[in-house]
Amino acid sequence: MKGLQLLATGGALPGRVVTNEDLSRQVDTSDEWITTRTGIRQRYCCTESEDAATLAIAAARQALARSGLAASEIACCVAATLSAPTATPSVACRVQAALGLPENRPAFDVNAACSGFIYAIAAAHGLLNTLGGRYALVIGCEALSRMVDPADRTTCVLFGDGAGAAILELAEDVPFAVTLGARGSEAIRVGGPAACDTAPITMDGKAVFRFAVETMPRCLQTVLERSQKTLADLDWVVCHQANSRIIDHCIKHLHAEPSKFYKNMDRHGNTSAASIPIALHEMVENDLLHPGQTLACIGFGGGLTWGGMLLTYEGRK
Ligand code: UT7
Repeated sequence: MKGLQLLATGGALPGRVVTNEDLSRQVDTSDEWITTRTGIRQRYCCTESEDAATLAIAAARQALARSGLAASEIACCVAATLSAPTATPSVACRVQAALGLPENRPAFDVNAACSGFIYAIAAAHGLLNTLGGRYALVIGCEALSRMVDPADRTTCVLFGDGAGAAILELAEDVPFAVTLGARGSEAIRVGGPAACDTAPITMDGKAVFRFAVETMPRCLQTVLERSQKTLADLDWVVCHQANSRIIDHCIKHLHAEPSKFYKNMDRHGNTSAASIPIALHEMVENDLLHPGQTLACIGFGGGLTWGGMLLTYEGRK
């Protein structure tokens, strides 16, 4: 079966920056507690006119422009999110309309929480192989600031908003591997947008931490085995940006080179399904990710779910 390679990225951040200092005036917390426990220093939050779909549209538009492709060449559009402004139209359908993507192609949302971007890429891979077509648009987008209880210090300090988008190309003989999994659990629970006032995010942080440090190295090893590569073959590992300490555990467990593990949670907090594509876009923008490089992306989160993939960047900027 053909694999996917990453062609171009896009990103969009909302207009309001909320620092740890800002939050320490809202709840009983401190910059010191948040940075030492999580590595987070600030996060971007939606203004009134922004939501997961407006961010997704901006990120997708940028990725499409960077790819140099016409909208008519996109064979499917999949958006990963757990904070869409409406259940329907989906974010992906809103992107289809805004970008003028062809109507005779699939557009839909995937909810696998923080693993969502990997799930969405796997879905796009399957669609291109099944329905035909060469290029997929995959988006991760969230407006989690709308879904936390602003008075709950155990969650409101963790999450942020944003969107990242990727254009992927189906190609012969490219390194590509995916692993996905799920274990039904209430360890992270989020009400739907309509229930947001009564059912904001709740999380058993310690249980999720344990789950993450067990799952991430295993996911990475699985995609390495499936693509017959070793850690030394990877230029980058892009993990879900929930907590700097979780990534450090993973590095220690794998005896890996820390500089290969990209981190940006200090600026964004945990943006769930958006965290991996936001990181990819930043890496392209900052000339860290170069054409021909191989990377693994590893996600874990609510569901509980997990996912890993290995692919190359054949960049267009
Ligand atoms: O993308 C979804 C995936 N989610 C995650 O990856 C989250 C994984 N878990 C974590 O990252 C960590 O468990 C947290 C950062 C959420 C919490 O860190 P922790 O070291 O597990 O802290 P804790 O929950 O054990 O809380 C320790 C103490 C408690 O006080 P007591 O009971 O010891 O007196 C909490 O009440 O810290 C208190 N606490 C806070 N203090 C100041 C909890 N939140 C805060 C806060 N500021 N924001």
